[in-house]
Amino acid sequence: MSLNNTSHASSTQGLSVHSRGTRTISITSGKGGVGKTSLVANIALTLGREGQRVLILDGDLGMANVDIMFGVRPEKTILDVVHGEAGVRDILIDVAPNVTLIPGGSGIFDLQNLNMFEKQNLLDQVSSLGTGYDLMIVDTAPGIADNVLYLNAAAQEINVVVTPDPASIADSYALIKVLHQRYRENRFSIICNQVKDETEGLRLFERLNDVSARFLNVGLDYKGSVPMDLNLRQATKSQQLVMRSHPETAAATAMRRIAHKFRFYADSESPKGSLQFFWEQLVGVA
Ligand SMILES: Nc1ncnc2c1ncn2[C@@H]1O[C@H](COP(=O)(O)OP(=O)(O)O)[C@@H](O)[C@H]1O
Ligand SMILES: [Mg+2]
Repeated sequence: MSLNNTSHASSTQGLSVHSRGTRTISITSGKGGVGKTSLVANIALTLGREGQRVLILDGDLGMANVDIMFGVRPEKTILDVVHGEAGVRDILIDVAPNVTLIPGGSGIFDLQNLNMFEKQNLLDQVSSLGTGYDLMIVDTAPGIADNVLYLNAAAQEINVVVTPDPASIADSYALIKVLHQRYRENRFSIICNQVKDETEGLRLFERLNDVSARFLNVGLDYKGSVPMDLNLRQATKSQQLVMRSHPETAAATAMRRIAHKFRFYADSESPKGSLQFFWEQLVGVA
């Protein structure tokens, strides 16, 4: 059930890049606490401010959750949609200008085990979201649990967050390896976080790229580095986004640069974008 870009290209041949519907990307990691949710929230905020229409799917139950970072408390999740107890529009939360959260939480864990009725219901609901979004960012749990693999395999672009911690490097490699071997994923973008400087980030990327090329024959893309920045840590502690509290600090500047690499303009004309495809892959009907 690997989703790669060629499957999209076939239906959009000859059309411009603007005809692909909502682009879907995952932000994932082998090890926890590496900065996924911080990246998701700050990237979404940045792109939303710049007029991109962004959806966030919360696929993790970690401590600094997406909802907490934006200071909202979801009452319902995707699971209520699956059980027919809510429409998808009832669970969406606007968390910032042009940024909408799909609370997933624990419900994400059950999506693969739905019966046909529940799957269809979810897909019908999700298709009503239409193509009004340029980008959906999926925040995953860390590791190689099935649920993490499914979310990544369903996304068009997988972004692995890695830090200089040796455990993070080893676990990133393990995640890339299993996504490659089980889901035939061949392209991964790497975001280096909590580095001293860009040089350390590049060196970290090269290390991971070398082993992936040598043992898996997989090429990695360098997306950028974010420095270790106490202003970011402080922002998290006070449940704020560093992009708001310290927009000029080093981590915020680096995250804006990375965010701009995700800029994408969907075509609101296309009836079924890759958003639909993402959900079909996720529940296993594609
Ligand atoms: N570049 C950074 N500099 C300093 N602290 C960071 C940085 N990135 C993340 N953190 C801190 O690390 C902790 C985990 O971040 P979080 O985004 O919740 O990671 P994850 O979602 O991967 O578990 C938080 O306290 C956060 O403030
Ligand atoms: Mg997290």
